[in-house]
Amino acid sequence: MRRRTVLKAFGWGVGGAVALGGGGFGAYYLSVKRDTVGKLAFDTALSIPALARSTSGASGARVFTLGIQPGETLFKDGKATRTWGVNGTYLGPTIRARRGERVEFAVHNGLDEATSLHWHGMHLPAVMDGGPHQTIAAGDTWAPRWTIDQAAATLWYHPHVHGATADHMYRGVAGLFLVDDERVEALNLPSEYGVDDVPMIVQDRAFDGDQQFVQREPLAGSLGVIGDEILVNGTIGPYFDVTTRLVRLRMLNGSNARLYHFGFSDDRRFSLVATDGGLLAAPWETDRLYLSPGERAEIVVAFEPGERVELRSYPAAHGGVLGRLDGFDDRFDICQFRAAGSLSATAAVPAVLAAAPDLAGRTVAQERSFVLASNRINGRSMAMDRIDFGVREGTVEVWEVTNDNGYLHNFHIHDVQFQVLTVDGGTPEPPLRGWKDTVLLVQGKRYRLALRFRGHTAPNTPYMYHCHLLAHEDDGMMGQFVVLGEGEQVGVPPGHHRHP
Ligand code: C2O
Ligand code: CU
Ligand code: CU
Repeated sequence: MRRRTVLKAFGWGVGGAVALGGGGFGAYYLSVKRDTVGKLAFDTALSIPALARSTSGASGARVFTLGIQPGETLFKDGKATRTWGVNGTYLGPTIRARRGERVEFAVHNGLDEATSLHWHGMHLPAVMDGGPHQTIAAGDTWAPRWTIDQAAATLWYHPHVHGATADHMYRGVAGLFLVDDERVEALNLPSEYGVDDVPMIVQDRAFDGDQQFVQREPLAGSLGVIGDEILVNGTIGPYFDVTTRLVRLRMLNGSNARLYHFGFSDDRRFSLVATDGGLLAAPWETDRLYLSPGERAEIVVAFEPGERVELRSYPAAHGGVLGRLDGFDDRFDICQFRAAGSLSATAAVPAVLAAAPDLAGRTVAQERSFVLASNRINGRSMAMDRIDFGVREGTVEVWEVTNDNGYLHNFHIHDVQFQVLTVDGGTPEPPLRGWKDTVLLVQGKRYRLALRFRGHTAPNTPYMYHCHLLAHEDDGMMGQFVVLGEGEQVGVPPGHHRHP
């Protein structure tokens, strides 16, 4: 949207902008491609977020205490960067809980502005969701609680204040939330946290001359802030010491806007074993993997004793017109893996991991269509006081989602994990065959998603659906739905009046 406006204002067609050559926009265009391959020292060990400690509450629940706070973080030698974090100065601890467990939180907002903490990918009551209707005022403590009721998966948490999500995330508030269950434990996947089961929160940041984060948007860019340095768990140019033959990486694209196209420096193959909502039916072997903002992937990589190999992000498709401005042509070294001289053996990845999603062929209670364009969904901008629709608890719906815009978008739905039924009428690629909560929308393609709504009815308290490119979300590319019990009607969010 913004890019189109700028180009129009200057009377540049797409070809014209590139053809300008020698000066102005053309020179800028030629200069923006980043390539850090071979340029990083890899002299800092990958930081591993601590596991959050919990106490046991009176009701038998596990109680976690989280404090969102400002601070300073040393990313580079010289000067510290002003950042925000959870129980620390940047990012937050990894929360870990088992299916069936009750969890309770005391989330204290130590900032001097309101924020929130959303549990991305979690099936839970809307009032515990941490979205824009559950903001925590400066100095206040929020106490959500629920029972973990979903399959093992790599989920995460981050702020979700309408209009400020991009800013709060960029400053550093985010962390992982790992759900465990018996099924995944029986598989013998690498599972020693920080040893052969390694979290990797991948983010891009731009620094100014004073070593402070800058929220710089590329000239005529369309996605919001794009950084030129890559951090993993807050470490720039990290190395990781490999001690086992197989390592499971839990990857999160924790960036505001950047699309990653992961692969290794020697193009080795690896196994994708889980996506947003948990295990795939079977591992998928590949040498490349896309992750758009908010998406997760668990991959298992095999190493040989003594070797060194880098995880990279390669140039990406799907950028559309002038995608280079938004980083689609960039190439990054991300993390170096250094294998020890001898590696302990680990069990092979099983050929069958889990049951495949089972929503195809169900009775569909309702079909809906969502067109994403110009930071709107179906032409509408997010309004806090407007619930866009209600879904019936216990039913299956099919949502058809299309990016009709020329720029990158993805689609995230709260409360549920969905099944991608088809992409443009065809069978989805293997990475889209497991449970998902966020899906990259390739321009022009139609994604048919099947969703089942279970429990947690609340006619006045909405869940969100939105583009997870945070500048788009903040600008209004978001909507709200409620889950209705029998006989219930769509209501009005607390503290609001019915929208005309
Ligand atoms: Cu990751 Cu609505 O959020
Ligand atoms: Cu979410
Ligand atoms: Cu978008």
